[in-house]
Amino acid sequence: MKKLYIETVGCQMNMLDSELVVASLRKEGYELTSQTADADAILFNTCSVREHAEEKIYSALGRLKDAKRDKPERVIGVIGCMAQNHQGSVFKRAPYVDLVVGPGQLHQIPALIRDIEASGGQRIEVSLGRKDGAREDIERSHESFDPLRDPTMRPTPFQAFVRIQIGCDKFCTYCIVPSVRGPEQSRPPADILAEARQLVGEGCREVTLLGQTVNSYRYRQGETTYRFSDLLHDLHAIDGLDRIKFVTNYPKDMTDDVLAAVRDLPKVSKYLHVPVQSGSDAVLKRMKRGYTVAEYREMLQRAYEWVPGVAVTSDFIVGFCGETDEDFQLTYELVRESRFKNSFIFKYSERPGTRGASLYADDVPDEVKRRRNNELLALQNQISEEDNHRMLGQSVQVLVEGPSRASVKHEAAGPSLQLTGRTLCDRIVVFEGNPRQTGQLLDVAIYDANSHTLFGTVETDHVVGELVQLSGSGV
Ligand code: 5AD
Ligand code: SF4
Repeated sequence: MKKLYIETVGCQMNMLDSELVVASLRKEGYELTSQTADADAILFNTCSVREHAEEKIYSALGRLKDAKRDKPERVIGVIGCMAQNHQGSVFKRAPYVDLVVGPGQLHQIPALIRDIEASGGQRIEVSLGRKDGAREDIERSHESFDPLRDPTMRPTPFQAFVRIQIGCDKFCTYCIVPSVRGPEQSRPPADILAEARQLVGEGCREVTLLGQTVNSYRYRQGETTYRFSDLLHDLHAIDGLDRIKFVTNYPKDMTDDVLAAVRDLPKVSKYLHVPVQSGSDAVLKRMKRGYTVAEYREMLQRAYEWVPGVAVTSDFIVGFCGETDEDFQLTYELVRESRFKNSFIFKYSERPGTRGASLYADDVPDEVKRRRNNELLALQNQISEEDNHRMLGQSVQVLVEGPSRASVKHEAAGPSLQLTGRTLCDRIVVFEGNPRQTGQLLDVAIYDANSHTLFGTVETDHVVGELVQLSGSGV
C-alpha cells in the first residue's frame, strides 16, 4: 500500500476538495498517513486569501527539502488556490516540488502522480486566467470535480459538505478568489440532489451547502430559473436528511424567498453567515461590495424580522486601503448594533493581481490594523457572551458531533465524557454524555455560557421514564 500525507488549509471548500482528492487516490491503492516521513506522496491543499496562508505553505515546503533528498521518488505536490495563483513560480521557490495543480484540475491528480512515477519530471495543470479567453473556455477550464466521496474524510460520518456552486463573479477589489476559483457556475440541481440522497443513504444526517455566494445560486432550466430557495425546498423533502446548512451568503442576494425558506423549512439551519466587511460606505465602495451600509442594515432587519431567533454572523476586513479612524468607528458601531452571533475579523492583506492592489495603496500601518482587529474582536466577544447568556435555561436541540477536544485528552475518565455538538442556530454546546450518542439529535438544557460555548445537560428519555415510574408507584 502506498501512503498519502495531505495537509489542508483554508476554507470548507478546500476541506471538501481534499476529501475528493483522497477518495480518488484511495482508488489507486493509497492509504492515509499522518507522518510525512513514511509518505509516498505529500500534498498541500492551499489557500491564497491572505499572504500569511501562502507564506506558511512555503515554510512547510522548506522543511521538506531533506525529505525529498532522502527519498527522491516521493512525490510532493502543491494543489488548490495557491497552485493556481503562483503556477510555475512554485517550482522556482521550491524546486523539489513535483506537482502543481489548480482547484479546477484536481481530478487529474492520480494520473499526474502515475506519470511522474513512470517518467519523472515536474507537472503543472492549472485553469485559464480570467482574461485568457472567452468566458465558456475559462469556465470549461475549471472542471467540475464532485463524483467521488470518501466517508472517512468527512467532518464526521453523519455530516458532509456538498458543493452547489464554484467560482465567483463579484470581484470585490481585495479578493483573489475570482482569479483562482474562476467564473461563478452553479451545479445542476439534479446532481446536487442525487449527491445529497447518496450521502443520506450512507448515514449522513446533515449537509452543509458550499459556495462563495450560495444565495446567488441560480440554474437556468429552459424558460425558468431554479433558485437557491427552490434547492432548499427540494433538499428539505429528502427523507432521512435532518439538517441543511449553507455558507457563504452575499448580502445583496438575501432575497425574501431565501428568508422565507429558512423560516418555513424546519430542517434548514436558522443561521446565516452574511459578511458585511465594513461599516463605512466609503470603504465598501472602494471594496466594490455593491451595497451601502443602509442596504445591509435593511437586509439584517429583514432577516431578524422574518426568521425569529435567527443567528447571523459576519466577516470584517480592518485596515483596508484608506480606512480612517472615522471609517473604523462606523464599523465598530455597526458591530455594536447588529448583534452578530460571531464575527470573523481579518487584517487587510494585499493580494497581487487584484483590483485593490493595482488601484489603492496598502496604507494602513500593520500596528493600526492589529489595534482595530483587537478592538473589534473584544466588542464582538462581549456581544457573543451576552447573546449566549440569553440562552440560559432554554432547551436546545443538538446534533452530537462527538467527544469534545478537552475530553479526548482525558479519555481515561470513564464512559461518561464531555461531548460537543451544535444547535440548529450553529451554536456550540458542550455537555456530559456517552460517546454512543454521537450522531444523535438530543435535547439539551443550557445552564452556563461563555462567548463561544454553551454548557448544558441532556434531557434524556431515561429521566422522563424514571419520573413516570416514580409517580406511577405513588411516591
Ligand atoms: N485580506 C484580508 N481578508 C480577506 N478576505 C478576503 N480577502 C482578503 C484579503 N485580501 C476575508 C473576507 C472574506 C473572508 C473569507 O476572508 O472577510 O469574507
Ligand atoms: Fe471574494 Fe467578494 Fe467573491 Fe466573496 S463575494 S469570494 S469576498 S470576490
